[in-house]
Amino acid sequence: MKGIILAGGSGSRLHPATVTVSKQLLPVYDKPMIYYPLSVLMLANIRDILIITTPRDLHQFRSLLGDGATLGLNLDYNVQPEPHGLAEAFLIGAGHIANDPVALILGDNIFHGYGFSDLLQANTTDIEGCVLFGYPVHDPWRYGVGETDGSGRLTSIEEKPTQPRSNRAITGLYFYRNDVVDIAKNIRPSARGELEITDVNRVYVERGTARLVELGRGFAWLDTGTPDALLQASQYLQTLEQRQGVRIACLEEVALRMGFIDADTCYSLGRAQAHSPYGQYIMDVASEVDPSPIHPGT
Ligand code: DAU
Repeated sequence: MKGIILAGGSGSRLHPATVTVSKQLLPVYDKPMIYYPLSVLMLANIRDILIITTPRDLHQFRSLLGDGATLGLNLDYNVQPEPHGLAEAFLIGAGHIANDPVALILGDNIFHGYGFSDLLQANTTDIEGCVLFGYPVHDPWRYGVGETDGSGRLTSIEEKPTQPRSNRAITGLYFYRNDVVDIAKNIRPSARGELEITDVNRVYVERGTARLVELGRGFAWLDTGTPDALLQASQYLQTLEQRQGVRIACLEEVALRMGFIDADTCYSLGRAQAHSPYGQYIMDVASEVDPSPIHPGT
């Protein structure tokens, strides 16, 4: 399984904070936003990951994450010159995807919940068409919205409907069979001139091969689209991290617990950042005699 993180766009709803900095590099509490979606792909046991961003921001993403080798990953980069839609990720990423299934995650989506790694791995090993994740929201008209037949099969999907048929928002995490590249090549731009991910997903819905995994009340899917939402996400993460003494989406810890790196490597990654509490935390985790094998959530 290949992974793609789409981290482009203009971030205009967060101006002036994003005039010179990518939205997906802004800090969410104690780490850059992109750490959260990257940790999700790692928890799904995906190590071959393409990061797509703007020509302006590519250099900064590369300086932050490099080729991923220290985390046991293989990271690659590509640009989306203009935000022509989420489904363009499959065209830009076609060479990276090659003949494999692929997971796409939006670089501004933050997930947190107990047992997320198990849930991801259990639902994405044998994909019939696509696997999407649904989350109950009070304002479904702001999102893609799906309806299921009760067994998890999606029967309809709409993008930002004025009259939503359910309160199930489709989150920004998508798993596909390899044929998604051909499907993306054949959809037309929407009225707003974008290749819409919902139009790709509708092809699978019509074939009866789109599945929705419900993320229930035990999960958090946090919004980062406005200054208030961004601050609230930071406060949520601060509250949990301080109360439990854990770090959410600590890439070095996830890499250790997933078996991508050993404890010595993890420790040295922490020592390189030893002046920050984040670095100290990594050193503590790496020093545990028997770190638990799977990180419970991100
Ligand atoms: O977050 C989940 C929602 O994401 C889904 O429920 C919707 O079905 C899906 O269309 C999308 O809706 P948004 O309104 O959030 O899409 P937006 O255009 O804001 O783009 C989401 C992120 O992707 C944003 O951080 C910018 C980035 N982006 C967007 C476009 C259109 C790109 O990197 N490239 C693009 O071409």
